[in-house]
Formats: sequence, C-alpha cells, structure tokens
Amino acid sequence: MHPKRKKLWEEIAAWQEQFENRLIKTIGKRKLPTKNIVSIEDLSKEDMQLIFDCARLFKEFIVKPDKKINLLKGMSQINFFFESSTRTRVSFELAGKHLSVDTINVTGSASTIEKKGETLNDVARTLNAMHADIIILRHARAGSPGMIADQISAPVINAGDGWHEHPTQALLDLYTMLDKRGQISGLKVAIVGDIKHSRVAGSLIRALNCFGVEPNVAGPPTLIPYGLEKVFKCRVFHNIEKAVKGVDVIYALRIQLERAAGGDIPSVREYSKCYCINLERLAMAKFDAIVMHPGPINREIDLKTEVMESDKSAVEDQVENGFAVRLALLYLMLGGERR
Ligand code: NCD
Repeated sequence: MHPKRKKLWEEIAAWQEQFENRLIKTIGKRKLPTKNIVSIEDLSKEDMQLIFDCARLFKEFIVKPDKKINLLKGMSQINFFFESSTRTRVSFELAGKHLSVDTINVTGSASTIEKKGETLNDVARTLNAMHADIIILRHARAGSPGMIADQISAPVINAGDGWHEHPTQALLDLYTMLDKRGQISGLKVAIVGDIKHSRVAGSLIRALNCFGVEPNVAGPPTLIPYGLEKVFKCRVFHNIEKAVKGVDVIYALRIQLERAAGGDIPSVREYSKCYCINLERLAMAKFDAIVMHPGPINREIDLKTEVMESDKSAVEDQVENGFAVRLALLYLMLGGERR
C-alpha cells in the first residue's frame, strides 16, 4: 500500500476507535430495553435521553469526510417502504451504510405483496427466515409494524404507519428542540395543520407529553379529532393567532390531500389563508421562536417561502438531526452490548 494511503487508513482507524470508546462511555450501563419501536410509547423519557446523547455524538461523525465505520459490520437491514419517502428512507439507508450494515430496499410496487398477492405477514416471515437483523417498515395501514413485530424475531422500527404514528420523526423533532433551545420540558409548542391525518402529530404529541409539554394544537375543527384534548394533554385552538401567541416552537404539518383531507376543507386556498405560517403569524410567537415541519413542505400552503428561508426555520436541522438520530437508533438496537 502507498505509504500516504496507509497513514490515512491508520488515522481513520484511530479516530474510529476513539469514537467507539466515546460511544461506550456515553452509553455507560444504559440500554434500550425495547426490542421494537412501533410506537413512541415503546420508549421511556430515559430511553429518549439515551438516544439523544448518542445522536449528539453521531452528529460529530456525520460531518467527517470518511464516515464509514465498522460498528455493525455483517448485519443486515431491510427497508420495507410501501409508501413514498425521501427523508426517512434515505436517512435510514445511509445510517445503515455508514455503520457498515448491508442494507436492502424493498418498495411496495416491487414487492410480492402488490404484484403476487402475498400477505405482509408471510413476507415478514420470509425475511425472518433469512435472518435479517432489523426491519424498517413504512405502510399505509395503521398497525402493520406492530403486526409483523409479533411474528418475527428481528427488531422492527415503524417508519410511519397510516394515520397512526411515526416514532423516529418524533425523536428527531424532540432532539431538534433540545438542540436549538437547550431543553424540552418547559417549552411552549404549537402544532398547526392537518392533525387528523398526521402520524407525525400522533407521535409528537405523545412524546411531548412524556416530557411534560402540553402543546397547543391548531387547525380547522374538521382536521382535529373530536375530543383530542381528552385523550392527550393538549389545548385545542381553531384560531391560529391565539395558538401561536408566545410559543417557542411553531410546528407546521402538511395538509394530507392524498389522505382525503380535501374533503375536510372548503378549499386549499381558504385553508392556507387561515392556517399557513407567514411572517405576521411567526412574529406573534416568542422573538427567538423556531419553525419546524417534517417535510415534504407544500410551499405557500403550510409555510410561506419567506418563513422557510428565514433564520427561524429549523427544517434542515430536522433533516440533519434525523440522520444522527437514526444512526444512534441502529447502534443502540443492534450494536453495543447486543453484539
Ligand atoms: C411525513 C410522513 O411521511 O409521515 N414525512 C416524513 O416522514 N418526514 C409527513 C408527511 O407526509 O406529511
């Protein structure tokens, strides 16, 4: 080997060893007790804190030019996505690859479920027979990840199921709030938009409640499930100006037209007039408030471009943090003491 190349490899190996030692030290005796992450409720506040501590370290790692590390070499990860995805699928895949996991992608249209009528359960059992080490599943039907998690020995992570939950999105959202504001407990948060069809809201409200945060939830009455405030700790508003007044975080959601949200509003134009986050509405929040959105964004409907481009937008931080959080999750679920 060329001496220059040899030196570079030695430096990378030394850095990686140092990184793994820091990870082990950060984790200490803590463990993620759950096998699966189907709901955010599978995780306690302490589990989430462990994930955030690990993600903080992985955030240093993702900016390194040579970031392939042998932590999970020889393991296999199947990304099973039955619905479209950019951020979630790419970050899970990239996270696996950077940790040296063999990642395999199966999309709905290419699977034997859509083409040959096989059941999801039978596909899951097939994957299990191949000894996949982890399965990441996105599915249009609520409850699918929980159903296959009961059938197979590999851990399952829910990457979004129907209108139900999207737990890893809630983890990256809370991590972003922590990173930007230094704490989660005590924050005032307004979640705005199509709550009814949003799995993101389903996990985020539960996760915020776990940290004692009771968010303001705002949207048209037809897009907020009746009695939400009786099931979760939150305050329901139909007037957006009242909901965002004095908050630390405005969290905008996409209007889910593919999930029939169009039938719940007079028109998209009317909806955006009443609920789009513009500079005037942003000015009603705290002076140092941040704006978040899980993506994909419908510009001028959920968020005005001027808000997206402002220094208050944490949307790209969410994407970067999502990558760090998923690296941390794979490591905690497959690596460390579990290996
Ligand atoms: C969301 C999803 O697909 O659940 N996006 C994401 O994962 N970042 C939200 C949405 O589709 O509106």
